[in-house]
Amino acid sequence: MRACIALALFWATSFSAFAADALRPALLLTARAAAQDLSGPWTWSKDLYRTGFTDINGWPAKPRMQRFRDVDVAGAEAQGGVGFFEYDLDRAPAMDIPGAWNSAVPELRYFDGLMWFQRRFDAPTRPGRRSFLRFEAVNYRTTVFLNGREVGKHEGGFTPFVVEVTQAVRETGNRLVVGVDSKHDAQTIPAEITDWDLYGGITRPVKFFQTPATFIDDATLRLTDAGRIVGSLQLNGPQPGNQPVSLRIAALGVTLQARTDANGEARFDTAAPAALKRWSPESPTLYDVELEAGGDKVRDRVGFRTIAVRGSDILLNGKPVNLRGISIHEEEIGPNPARRIDEAAARRLLGEVKNGLHGNYVRLSHYPHNETMLRVADELGLLVWSEIPVYWSIDWDTPAVLDKARRMQAETIYRDRNRAALILWSIGNETPVGEARTRFHTALAETVRALDPSRLVSAALLVERQGDVIHIADPLLPQLDVIAVNTYAGWYGDDTLDTVRRLRWDVPADKPLLFSEFGADAFAGFRDEKLRPKFSEDYQADYYRATLAMAAKVPTLRGLSPWVLKDFRSPRREHPVYQNGWNRKGLISETGQRKLAFDVLAEHYRAQAK
Ligand code: GCU
Repeated sequence: MRACIALALFWATSFSAFAADALRPALLLTARAAAQDLSGPWTWSKDLYRTGFTDINGWPAKPRMQRFRDVDVAGAEAQGGVGFFEYDLDRAPAMDIPGAWNSAVPELRYFDGLMWFQRRFDAPTRPGRRSFLRFEAVNYRTTVFLNGREVGKHEGGFTPFVVEVTQAVRETGNRLVVGVDSKHDAQTIPAEITDWDLYGGITRPVKFFQTPATFIDDATLRLTDAGRIVGSLQLNGPQPGNQPVSLRIAALGVTLQARTDANGEARFDTAAPAALKRWSPESPTLYDVELEAGGDKVRDRVGFRTIAVRGSDILLNGKPVNLRGISIHEEEIGPNPARRIDEAAARRLLGEVKNGLHGNYVRLSHYPHNETMLRVADELGLLVWSEIPVYWSIDWDTPAVLDKARRMQAETIYRDRNRAALILWSIGNETPVGEARTRFHTALAETVRALDPSRLVSAALLVERQGDVIHIADPLLPQLDVIAVNTYAGWYGDDTLDTVRRLRWDVPADKPLLFSEFGADAFAGFRDEKLRPKFSEDYQADYYRATLAMAAKVPTLRGLSPWVLKDFRSPRREHPVYQNGWNRKGLISETGQRKLAFDVLAEHYRAQAK
């Protein structure tokens, strides 16, 4: 009884601003240049039975198994004696980081468990400086050790975290050991089953930072609907309060001075200069912004735009906008992707959207993508939907799982809230309607609005069907600014494409609607102009024509992000001829070969863009 009351109380208490602040990551290092990028070869040692942490019966690991210890194993062995080790990360094989282990080493293709990584590095430092390590993303659970000392832990495969190592770091020969456990279960986010590949490991860069004792940890800036530039800056350090700080946007002749409050936060607010060019896909103007405090400086490139809804319209800079998009997974083009998205890989993917498809929008699914994708979208002029992996079913009832989702959402918002391209926060994908689920999502929507009231909230919903009428009657609708649905009539199920053309949509009239997904598999190069069977390029092109014709009749439809730009790896797709571990709904193949349907969508968007 007491537990039920606690649980009801837990759910009942709406999400306050105070609680939102508590979600702020302790350290962010936003927009700061790193002292060292630790990308390159890291040695690795797999640990299927997690002996590096615990021995049999759950006892603490034996020293000879503890991969994180600051020991020169070869040196110790050279001393002789009775002691011995059953690992040695100094002489272990290496793989390139960032990148998933599943693609790096054939024997690790389906390895799912604990892996140890080591990187040695020097860190020349000046007195009074602080040292940090920032991990852009590690899939899934991470424990970080420096020189034998545990310095941090994190859970979640797609968001950054920072650990302070000032006390642990030394000038030379640092031993950075990272334990990465890729295992997912009922209480992880996402849960165990998804439609994308495992990609375990250190999938984004790890960087070493040095700062003054008091430094600028975070800053944000945006344009309000009232035409004002507002922002804030957060200092971290022993003397955060009453510090003079400044913000400069040289190209606009804007220089603002402010003072931090007792918590080290300063706020900026000024009328936007008449000369300000607003950011939009057609003219993605970015401004160099410089922030200074006590000799510490950070720089960022920021675009200024407003986003809102009015009835069934999405308003960008006050004008209705139609989202010409596509969904994308974080997977680079190539026969053996490792979820390694560097700038060139991001430009290649987003270039296909902007220049190939004539698109102005991307749905980065189903998790926060690499920051590079967001920055390239800012630069190229592509609006962005960002999502946390509350995907299909997760444990809706355990408060700790909601805490994880809220923290993931906060880490994403604090990382990306300066990106003009990002307009939509999605709080989930295809989650089955149910009370606990809707409560969970409602709490997430409140979290998003408390952390970032300047953007729109959405979710990719499932639909209901009665005959040829599709209904959207999800109890979550009141929480959403923009409704989005995934629809696969004509691929899953037995609808013919004629049926697809006939389908009618019964949708709320007062909110914008997006088709967040629709798509059909096609094996690149498989053509049959006569029979046009499923998995052929011909069928996929026909499917797009039929679905676009259906979409054109939906009055509140304000955008599309078909599933999906590129064929991607999925352990759920095992047709030996057409799939072989790939979801083939891409408009381009895994190596970048365009399929017929690519041109169907490109032509549709080119006409809309006129
Ligand atoms: C779902 C899901 C995707 C999946 C797709 C498919 O809608 O959101 O993650 O890959 O359908 O079936 O191909």
